[in-house]
Amino acid sequence: VNTIGVLTSGGDAPGMNAAIRAVVRMGLARGKRVMGIRKGFEGLLNEDIIDMNARSVSDIIQRGGTILYTARCEEFFTLEGQTKGANICRKYGIDGLVVIGGDGSFKGAKALSGLGINTIGVPGTIDLDINCTDYTIGFDTAVNTAMEAIDKIRDTSTSHERCSVVEVMGRHSGYIALWCGITNGSEDVLIPEVGNITTEELINNIVSNRKKGKKHHLIIVAEGVGGTEKLARELEEKTGIETRATILGHLQRGGSPTAVDRMHGSMMGAYAVDLLCEGKSNVVVSYKNGDYTYYSIEESNKMKKVINKRQIEVSQILDKYTL
Ligand code: F6P
Repeated sequence: VNTIGVLTSGGDAPGMNAAIRAVVRMGLARGKRVMGIRKGFEGLLNEDIIDMNARSVSDIIQRGGTILYTARCEEFFTLEGQTKGANICRKYGIDGLVVIGGDGSFKGAKALSGLGINTIGVPGTIDLDINCTDYTIGFDTAVNTAMEAIDKIRDTSTSHERCSVVEVMGRHSGYIALWCGITNGSEDVLIPEVGNITTEELINNIVSNRKKGKKHHLIIVAEGVGGTEKLARELEEKTGIETRATILGHLQRGGSPTAVDRMHGSMMGAYAVDLLCEGKSNVVVSYKNGDYTYYSIEESNKMKKVINKRQIEVSQILDKYTL
C-alpha cells in the first residue's frame, strides 16, 4: 500500500485515540502517506478526509473519545454506498484502510475489502463483544469508570439503608456487568448470557440479607437484560425497602483511557499498519492468549465468544457470602 486511511466508526471507546496515533505514526515510519477520515463511513461518503502528519496526533493519547469523530452509517450497509466509498478511496489514492470500531463497522470493512481496498479492522468497543479477540479497546476504562460510579452509589445506598439497582452498558453482552459484579462486590448480577435469578429469589435475598443486618443491597443489571426501573419499583413494593434505580449510561464511554487501553490501542493500531504492509486485507486484529494475531472477518463472525463461567461462579459465591 502507498496511502493508508484511518477512521473510527460506531460507538466511541476510550483508547481509540491511542490507536489512531499508532496508525498515523507507524504508517509514516513505514514510509506511507496517512489520511484521516472523519465521522466514520458517513464522512468517507461525504469526503471528509484530511491529511495526517506526526503532529496531527500530538497530545491525544490521554484523551477520551475520538479526534476523528464517529458515526453509525445506514447508507454503508447498501452495496451502492459501499461502491461509492471504494471509489472515493481510489479518488484520494487510499489503497489501505484501518477501521477502528465494532462488529457493525467490520461489515463495512469486509465490503470495502471485496471492492479492492485493503482493509483491516481494529476492535474498539467498550462492550468486549467481538468474537475473535479476548480484548477490545475501551473495555478496561469503561469498567473502571462504572466501578468507581457504583462505589459512590454504594456509599449513599448504605447511609440510607436502601437497595440499589444499577444498569451498566454492554449492548447484548454482560462483560461490563459481570466485571462490576465482582469488583464492586454486588449482591446480585443479571447478565444476558445465562439464565438469571428470578425476581422472587432477588426478593428473598434482599429480605434475608436485611435480617442478617446488611445495610445495603446492590444489584447490577446489564443493559441487555434491561427493565431496571421496573425491577426497582417491584423490589421496593414487595420488600418494603426503599429502592433506587440508576442507569449509568454514556458516562461509561468517556474519560481518559487507562494504561491498558492506551497499550492495546497503540499495539493494535501499529499492528494493523504492519498487516497492511504485508498485503493483508479483510482481517480483524485480535488479542488472543496474551499475544496479537489476526482473523479473517468471516472467521471472526463464525467464532463463538463464551463468557467466563468461572467468573460467574466466583461472583455468585462471593455475592452470597454473608456472615
Ligand atoms: O457499543 C457501545 C455502546 O455504548 C453499547 O454499550 C450501547 O448499547 C450503545 O453503544 C449505545 O449507543 P448510542 O451511543 O448510540 O446510544
